[in-house]
Amino acid sequence: MASGLLLSASLLAISCAKYQSTSIDPGVIAPLKQVEEITLQNSMPFAMGAAVNVSLMKSNANYRDLVTKEFNSITAENAMKFASLHPAKDTYTWSDADYLVNYAIASGKRVHGHTLNWYKSLPDWVNNFQGTTAEWENLLKTHIQTVVGHFKGKVVSWDVVNEAIADDGTIRNSIWVQKLGTDYIGRAFQYAHEADPDALLFYNDYGHEFGPTKRTAILNLVNSLKSKGILIDGIGLQMHTRVTQTDANLATAISTAAATGLKVHISEIDIALNPDRAQSFTYTSTLADQQAAKYKAIVKAYNAIPKAQQFGITQWNVTDADSWIPSNYSCPDWPLPFDGQYQRKPAYQAILDGVK
Ligand code: G3I
Repeated sequence: MASGLLLSASLLAISCAKYQSTSIDPGVIAPLKQVEEITLQNSMPFAMGAAVNVSLMKSNANYRDLVTKEFNSITAENAMKFASLHPAKDTYTWSDADYLVNYAIASGKRVHGHTLNWYKSLPDWVNNFQGTTAEWENLLKTHIQTVVGHFKGKVVSWDVVNEAIADDGTIRNSIWVQKLGTDYIGRAFQYAHEADPDALLFYNDYGHEFGPTKRTAILNLVNSLKSKGILIDGIGLQMHTRVTQTDANLATAISTAAATGLKVHISEIDIALNPDRAQSFTYTSTLADQQAAKYKAIVKAYNAIPKAQQFGITQWNVTDADSWIPSNYSCPDWPLPFDGQYQRKPAYQAILDGVK
């Protein structure tokens, strides 16, 4: 009796399955929808980037896999700086930067170039260079045009000039200003444009969220470049910020940059939990949640600017373990959306939530 019932049930199941398989027109079966994994690059409506370190890319598979999986834009943390690419007057060393560019091309990622002109990370030969104004001009032009030319068609955008404004709102008294005067900034953009007319050119700086002094000076600089007819496509807000910064200051930094009409790149974001650089400091879940809320506020403000101006958001480094902050300031910190074990922190979900 029991086995008879079982048999009838199996026959019923077989006939139902047959009925299903023969009665549906295969032409109307919807293709199986591929479930896309949630990652930053899959989920966000604008490019998501990270500043990457070449030696970690080469030596650490976890690091590299995380970059491959999460991001669709990369910036070289150091490999495209003057000292890295051009260590002696007639010597260019392309191998590390080429490695990153080739990796990006092979994995379908955008490369943002950082940076053609900065007062830091200059090689000794530049710091010690003795030359006339014309020779300095030639040095500036040759470096920019050789670098942009080398990566033409591969690097889509450049931080042409980095950190030219001091925190008090004056033009920083850098070696470039001393040798060439303040108008060198516009000429740096022109040289870059001549070398690759298709590259998007950015002015990049930090501190837009500090308050009006530095922010206004930066905005005045980019607006004056525009009004002189100098081609500038975007403004980079580094946004090395801190958990104690107000949402209002962060939102104003973003909206005022967008008001220039230029593309806006949040180009180096990290959110320090230990901004006073205490030697002894503990990471807590409360701090992680406060950090998450801050990431969300920034993403929300960024998502509100016109789509055509959203160049993307790039975090500076990949995980808390490789962030520049602890080594630079000799103090513990946890500024990024991934922890030192390559796991997603609360900030990760907050970034996704910022565009909902
Ligand atoms: O490569 C040398 C190594 O050979 C040497 O043994 C070691 C000893 O100190 O120094 C190494 O170079 C360091 C380099 O990072 C690579 O690790 C430099 O000293 C150090 O100054 C350099 O710091 C970088 C800094 O910019 C200056 O270029 C940081 O990694 C990098 O994260 C930081 O990035 C900047 C952005 O470019 C602009 N905005 C701010 C941001 C954070 O400071």
